[in-house]
Amino acid sequence: MKFVPFVGLVIGSLAGLGSAALQPRNFDTHDYYVLHLERGVRPDHVASRLGLRNEGPLGELPYHYVLSDPKPRTESRSDEYEDHDIVKRAIQEHRRKRSPDAVDILDSIKFSQKQKRRAPMQKRVIPSPPPGFYPQVRENKADAQALEKQKSLMDTLGIKDPIFHEQWHLFNPVQLGHDVNVTDVWLSGITGKNATVAIVDDGLDMDSNDLKPNYYAAGSYDFNDHRPEPKPTLSDDKHGTRCAGEVSAAKNDVCGVGVAYDSKIAGIRILSKQISDADEAEAMNYDFQHNQIYSCSWGPPDDGKSMDAPGILIKRAMLNGVQNGRDSLGSIYVFASGNGAASEDNCNFDGYTNSIYSITVGAVDREGNHPYYSEKCSAQLVVTYSSGGGDAIHTTDVGENSCYNGHGGTSAAAPLAAGIFALALEIRPDLSWRDMQYIALESAVPINLDSGEWQPTTIGKQFSHTFGYGKVDSYALVQIAKDWKKVKPQAWYFSPWLHVRKEIPQGNEGLSVTFDVTEDMLKEANVERLEHVTVTMNVQHTRRGDLSVDLISPSKVVSHISATRKLDTSDEGYDDWTFMSVAHWGESGVGTWTLVIRDTNVNDNTGTFTDWHLKLWGESIDASKATLLPMPEETDDDDHDHDATSTATPAVSTTSLPPPADATNSGVTSLPTDHPDRPVKPSNTAVGSGPTGTSEAEAAETTGTGSSWLPSFLPTFGVSSSTQAWIYGSLVLIVIFCAGLGAWLWFVRRKRLRNNPRDAYDFQPLNEEEMEGLNPGEKGQRRRGGELYDAFAGGSEDEDDNDRDHRSLVSEESDDDDEEEHGQGERQGERLLRNNQ
Ligand SMILES: *[C@@H]1O[C@H](CO)[C@@H](O)[C@H](O)[C@H]1NC(C)=O
Ligand SMILES: *[C@@H]1O[C@H](CO)[C@@H](O)[C@H](O)[C@H]1NC(C)=O
Repeated sequence: MKFVPFVGLVIGSLAGLGSAALQPRNFDTHDYYVLHLERGVRPDHVASRLGLRNEGPLGELPYHYVLSDPKPRTESRSDEYEDHDIVKRAIQEHRRKRSPDAVDILDSIKFSQKQKRRAPMQKRVIPSPPPGFYPQVRENKADAQALEKQKSLMDTLGIKDPIFHEQWHLFNPVQLGHDVNVTDVWLSGITGKNATVAIVDDGLDMDSNDLKPNYYAAGSYDFNDHRPEPKPTLSDDKHGTRCAGEVSAAKNDVCGVGVAYDSKIAGIRILSKQISDADEAEAMNYDFQHNQIYSCSWGPPDDGKSMDAPGILIKRAMLNGVQNGRDSLGSIYVFASGNGAASEDNCNFDGYTNSIYSITVGAVDREGNHPYYSEKCSAQLVVTYSSGGGDAIHTTDVGENSCYNGHGGTSAAAPLAAGIFALALEIRPDLSWRDMQYIALESAVPINLDSGEWQPTTIGKQFSHTFGYGKVDSYALVQIAKDWKKVKPQAWYFSPWLHVRKEIPQGNEGLSVTFDVTEDMLKEANVERLEHVTVTMNVQHTRRGDLSVDLISPSKVVSHISATRKLDTSDEGYDDWTFMSVAHWGESGVGTWTLVIRDTNVNDNTGTFTDWHLKLWGESIDASKATLLPMPEETDDDDHDHDATSTATPAVSTTSLPPPADATNSGVTSLPTDHPDRPVKPSNTAVGSGPTGTSEAEAAETTGTGSSWLPSFLPTFGVSSSTQAWIYGSLVLIVIFCAGLGAWLWFVRRKRLRNNPRDAYDFQPLNEEEMEGLNPGEKGQRRRGGELYDAFAGGSEDEDDNDRDHRSLVSEESDDDDEEEHGQGERQGERLLRNNQ
């Protein structure tokens, strides 16, 4: 037994001699713990207090360390062995015995996590097509003039790569215009020089003659086999190499070229074996001063039922990447949107693609159409070319001189975009991670404008959940990057947790809640204009896939932040899940935000909307006041002492929604929290949580006499008579107060409606027949009812046909105000009752 740590030590120090600080981990012989320590605390001291070995820092995460413990021999491990946690046990022990003045180094542990190996994330390769899907037969006639142009281009640039002719995504002589429009960028001399992309994947064949010239060894590592080189070893390890070829295949006599063929390319291998969160976190920051862009063509399964987010260490690594990577300009994370569209999967159910720190890239096929696999969501920024329409991406393969003609899925779209971002970084290495998102959406070109998917945004852009802001145009992107004025640092406004606690009505009717954001709130938060919007929600439901959620901004831009998923039968609902939207980019954010949750399937599966939390992220007003977001904590979402209630009204499909009652939003601006950026979540218990009520009741208790003076038909609650007096007295007061308030609200609303009829929402869910009539492009394809709204009402002057079509389907009348208001008053009363108890 005793020699095990010794051997470990020797191996450890030998490895230390070779490569940088990376220590190989061996989960068969050791347990590993990640500890986050107070600044200045020596990890060696903590390790020796715990009887563990300090393995050094966890990648680039500040004050995070890996500690190890040799495992006992297999035969002496108990059944519970895998669950044992030395660090947690020691901390518990210490807390139990704690004497008031005892100082212990264990108090400096801010966070600890025993590492477990888990399945790696899944590659986003071309999925098998849905039943009944036939690829279109394409007429393969090249345009003569385009062929001329191609030839002269190859001559001018000296491109002799044998499969360059097949690389339609770079230059398409058949479907003119359906390529990434990069050739004039190359001709201007921009080819990715001095830019570095890391392919985080299943390896990278650095011995391929197509990649060798651009291979960047110092930025590469194999986190699966713990070697410095990411050489593929499994027969299936080809995905990363193919992605790398799209970015940075050299201009030579092998296969084709990458879109940024003079860029540097690194390989970080994480997808080939089980992996721990610690290793994945380290991978996401690997050599992050030099690896500028991390291209990630993977994620949780795209099966239409998964709802997975990265673990806390990986989340921290991504935040650390944007804060400290690239000399604090921020690492650029590019993610494939996912291939589960045929299973109704949606990239907002994937915590990597819906992170504000990643650029989510979907696919479009060589005819410019949406391929059956590419997922839609409100977090998708742009799309670019990939497989579908009878072809795929032609690129480098594993092997010295091997090429591949079948690369695809959103897996092939993300690296292509990453390579194009590398072109921008050649001329503007000073762009921040947020500048790159701005440039991507500013330069994107909307496609398939008649698909009925597009809505105008307040900054004159068009947004579609299927195509984001459109397809990437390399020329436009580089042009905009050239004279891009860098944006000011990030700022954010977080609403308090907003309680709802209401059953979600079934059918097209939804439950609608609102939150008012004032100019002062944003001014105080230093937010000038919006970029990302996130909504964290708790919903209980016995069949999660029945739910859908829309977020409607004050300017009536609609984000379908959640969509129904036929295969998602989970009964876990949304548990502190964060949805994200980029559709509100550039809005002021001031006004009423509306969230509509629907349970469209009328069946036995029902649910309750518990609470939500709105976060508006954007550019700061005053750069000097900007701060860095603190690292996420596991406990961010589960504090339980604040209660703010948002207005809840059922969204009735045949009438306009009433304007929100803003009375409820008073008092939610100042929050009882010690962390200014982290509003705390209200308690989940429905009643009796009011701190004032409790203490008063207790005070009354102490002077009570114990006998009851109540008529016998009234319950005594088993408490003293003074407490009973308090309870019944309070009830009478509450009833009187509610009646008064109801009347007052009715009066105020009535007046407001008269004064400002445009306050009323005038968007409408459409029924399916109407939807189909609207979407001739999607023959026979049924779409989710209620997906389209008149998001354009009250919007721009230059209505197009699309616009008018939508509007004509909307009934504008709103005769049911009285009923709505009445309901509102009752709900107000209910809530007050709850708050006062
Ligand atoms: C492509 O690039 C050219 C310049 O080379 C530019 O004029 C054009 O607008 C770009 N976009 C498209 C769709 O052709
Ligand atoms: C490449 O980047 C480095 C670091 O940003 C810089 O010092 C160097 O001048 C650049 N070289 C070229 C050719 O742009």
